[in-house]
Amino acid sequence: MELKNAVPWGRSLAEYKKMFCLSEHDLTKSILGCGDGPASFNAELTKLGGSVTSIDPVYSFSHDQLKSRIDEVYDEVMPQMERTKSNYLWSTIASVEELGKIRMAAMGTFLADYEQGKQENRYIDAALPKLPFEAQQFDLAVCSHFLFLYSEQLSLQQHLDAILELNRVAKEVRIYPLTTLKGEQSEYVEPLLMHLAARNMKCTVSRSDYRFQKNAVNILTITP
Ligand SMILES: C[S@@+](CC[C@H](N)C(=O)[O-])C[C@H]1O[C@@H](n2cnc3c(N)ncnc32)[C@H](O)[C@@H]1O
Repeated sequence: MELKNAVPWGRSLAEYKKMFCLSEHDLTKSILGCGDGPASFNAELTKLGGSVTSIDPVYSFSHDQLKSRIDEVYDEVMPQMERTKSNYLWSTIASVEELGKIRMAAMGTFLADYEQGKQENRYIDAALPKLPFEAQQFDLAVCSHFLFLYSEQLSLQQHLDAILELNRVAKEVRIYPLTTLKGEQSEYVEPLLMHLAARNMKCTVSRSDYRFQKNAVNILTITP
């Protein structure tokens, strides 16, 4: 991965809890965060005593490289958000400015934890569709804002391979959102549900507790 192609933009533990409807019991599980990038999910939950391993190809970069890329991306993303703000609901987060503050706070928490987390193997440089883990190593895998969101860049087969790999390494998989960057449900949702059902995998599409991008209301859960 080239750093200039990475768009680090990370969410908080509070947002992960809502996106994935994580109960207090879920937070005690061994969790894989897939494509966590600069989210503060791992840093915050680890501090509370949780067990989280995050994987992302951006973890090949150093703290300083990621920090300067985050600053560059902030300057690129904020005007984009201003232009596209009608695609979002501004009830929980009141404005583009507040969004910027929330994201930068989450990414600051990530950066402060990054070196230690790398030493503790909580931030691992890896990428779907091949993960360096044993079968069923995790109780739960969560994947936020990667699969489905980039349906224009990733094929149906790449989605299927990624989901099968997540299902290999974790007993339960939750993916959010099921919408693309344009805010429409990904065209891959229905064919993937059929592929997974044909493999006798139990898939449920249900409501997420998180609301920000319009139409991004559903979460896909895959259980044994
Ligand atoms: C929009 S960010 C989402 C970050 C975080 N999950 C969140 O919601 O705050 C998408 C992330 O997917 C990561 N990514 C890109 N290719 C990947 C792959 N093949 N496997 C896993 N993650 C990947 C990117 O590096 C980036 O950090």
